[in-house]
Amino acid sequence: MTDTDTLRSTWLARVADAADAPALEEVRLAALGKKGEISGLMKELGRMTPEERQIRGASLNRLRDEIDAALRARRTAMDDAALDERLKSEWLDVTLPGRPRPHGTIHPVSQVMEEVTAIFADMGFAVAEGPQVESDWFNFDALNIPPEHPARQEHDTFFMARATGDNRPPHVLRTHTSPVQIRAMQAQGAPIRVIAPGRVYRMDMDQTHTPMFHQVEGLAIGKDISMANLKWTLEEFCRAFFEVPSVELRFRASHFPFTEPSAEVDIRCDWSGGQLKIGEGESWLEILGSGMVHPKVLAAAGVDSAEWQGFAFGMGIDRIAMLKYGIPDLRAFFDGDLRWLRHYGFAAGDVPSVSGGLSR
Ligand code: PHE
Repeated sequence: MTDTDTLRSTWLARVADAADAPALEEVRLAALGKKGEISGLMKELGRMTPEERQIRGASLNRLRDEIDAALRARRTAMDDAALDERLKSEWLDVTLPGRPRPHGTIHPVSQVMEEVTAIFADMGFAVAEGPQVESDWFNFDALNIPPEHPARQEHDTFFMARATGDNRPPHVLRTHTSPVQIRAMQAQGAPIRVIAPGRVYRMDMDQTHTPMFHQVEGLAIGKDISMANLKWTLEEFCRAFFEVPSVELRFRASHFPFTEPSAEVDIRCDWSGGQLKIGEGESWLEILGSGMVHPKVLAAAGVDSAEWQGFAFGMGIDRIAMLKYGIPDLRAFFDGDLRWLRHYGFAAGDVPSVSGGLSR
């Protein structure tokens, strides 16, 4: 056996024995690195005679190539094995069905508030807000309901408790969204066009009444805004909201301390067959109160009634939600029953963005 044969079997054995990539790299350096054994032997070629160098050089070159090939083959084998290992442990069945995740729904009241806001936004109404715990001045006095006025009793008001000895007039849970009229006009003056959706409270409970419910107030003040504008606005709203080509509204003379003249508005509908249809039939359903803003209300809000006038309305949001989506019992709105919410709730994608839907 020549010494080249010995070298070959030694180094090929070390290559085969290397357990992992770092060990294999050590073997490579020890054989073929700058200070490796084979490289050292090749340096000695310079000191040989041309004849010796020819024979020795050729066999050393072959030896180097063989060790190099063995190193590469071993390296590839190691990489393949590592990949196999990963493929085995990281295997993923992309054909498995997804795990269902429970998701919530949008409450019909939230849905309808968004719809209402989108439709009025198209008509140039901004959204205004006010507190739910309101002073009795904003809730009553400023709206031309003085302390002895019978409307205060009719409203079944919740009064906030005062500490004993605190004799200031009580705050109330607002009984309607109308105080937001005053707040919006005080903040912005005239002209103004706002709606104010929100919670209101009255001591009342049966199939069509809950102690908390929702209204949306509307207010439009300008130089020459009239009942005709009120009528058009409400008809246009109902047509867009109920998604019917035409609606018929009935304006019934009524009375509110804060509007003069005042009208309650009914919508034509059909109950036959137990299914409610809006815009046809022989029945009428009351959906809102409205009128021309009383000069005393303008004055309380700091708006000059010699120069400005306009309309206001207050609509029951829960009521129109029941009508549009055929929900029979108002009390269920606020029970938080998951089965009810899943049935009547909306997917997030159903909420309208502010956009068209009105013909002009
Ligand atoms: N605030 C009245 C109510 O709650 C509704 C209304 C608002 C009437 C604005 C006229 C004008 O019944």
